[in-house]
Amino acid sequence: MKLVVTGGLGFIGSNFIRMVLQGRPGWSVVNLDLVTYAGNPANLADLERHGGYRFVKGDIAEPQDVAAALEGGADAIVNFAAESHVDRSILSAEPFVRTNVVGTVRLLEAARALPACRVVHVSTDEVYGALTPDEPPFTERTPLSPTSPYAASKAAADHLALAFARTHGQDVVVTRCSNNYGPYQFPEKLIPLMITNAIEGRKLPVYGDGRQVRDWIHVEDHCAGVLAALERGTAGEVYNFGARAERHNLDIVSRIVALLKVRPDLVEHVKDRPAHDRRYAMDPAKAERALGWTPARTFEQGLADTVRWYVEHEDWWRRVKDGSYRDFYRTWYEERTA
Ligand code: NAD
Ligand code: DAU
Repeated sequence: MKLVVTGGLGFIGSNFIRMVLQGRPGWSVVNLDLVTYAGNPANLADLERHGGYRFVKGDIAEPQDVAAALEGGADAIVNFAAESHVDRSILSAEPFVRTNVVGTVRLLEAARALPACRVVHVSTDEVYGALTPDEPPFTERTPLSPTSPYAASKAAADHLALAFARTHGQDVVVTRCSNNYGPYQFPEKLIPLMITNAIEGRKLPVYGDGRQVRDWIHVEDHCAGVLAALERGTAGEVYNFGARAERHNLDIVSRIVALLKVRPDLVEHVKDRPAHDRRYAMDPAKAERALGWTPARTFEQGLADTVRWYVEHEDWWRRVKDGSYRDFYRTWYEERTA
């Protein structure tokens, strides 16, 4: 299997490449990544000399960069590359349209020109919009109703991926997953931000009342699902992934405070995110049935493992937080707390 993975220096893509190179001997992986603020070469430092791995720095929205990654052909493309942070999409939506929408189309076009190249397009539960407390979880048949510019750009890309499957008979599979957590997650997202701020003795900024619900899954369980979709998914189908682990944000932050034994008064309620989706929840029954996939970790076990990983990898996240992230974070945090 010759695999092209996009966005493989990011959080989920780097975990996926490690899983593939360790678990599928004989496969080769080309990693096409633009190395934006979220792409960190340190995430795959252990695999730099792996014989089956090649890195191509490039933009999925630039046809010549995509062609460079596809040189020598490919059996499949797994598209993780994206602008992925909701708060950033509120500050500036255009990079989300360029990478998430235009970039996805460029990949679909390039795959279409190859003799037989499956595209697994990695998407999110946010395309379905928000649930009220009593509504059932999202299924693959739930209509798309995105709220944030990020979610809208992902929904546009999903529609295009499925349109290419229908119009051109192209081999495309779309996966949608709930909130991930685990090693190598950029500390702008809730869980790594709270863990690293707590270790640093900084405030833990909870948006609004903190009663928003997310459905959490360990990144390795998500990656196992994407691999199952690549190997066993049916062309033109959508698969939802989630671990049936709905939690309030405040519950998560309190658990992190307890695991790290820091002062509960670090928790600070700040101004809410505009149009903040109240609840997400995924029904993963189709993926369990059709792909034979099931998540391996409970949330409690996964969160404790993740807290330990950040404690043991302080060098990794301190370097991230010392860089460009800091400027963004300062602006965003000052605006939230003004
Ligand atoms: P991330 O922000 O950690 O990583 C994104 C990666 O894409 C980075 O390495 C970045 O350099 C690269 N990239 C960005 N623009 C690019 C471009 N134009 N060309 C090539 N590379 C580019 O993101 P993540 O959290 O790992 O998410 C990966 C994918 O999974 C995204 O498509 C996201 O929408 C989806 N997803 C994420 C979650 C989650 O909880 N993080 C949940 C469901 C789905
Ligand atoms: O649901 C899947 C999505 O999960 C992915 O598609 C996105 O790429 C990923 O960023 C994530 O989006 P969220 O907006 O849910 O994740 P985030 O970590 O930004 O926030 C999780 C919740 O925590 C959300 O309700 C907002 C809240 N929050 C977040 C931050 C960063 C806070 O209360 N304080 C914070 O400082």
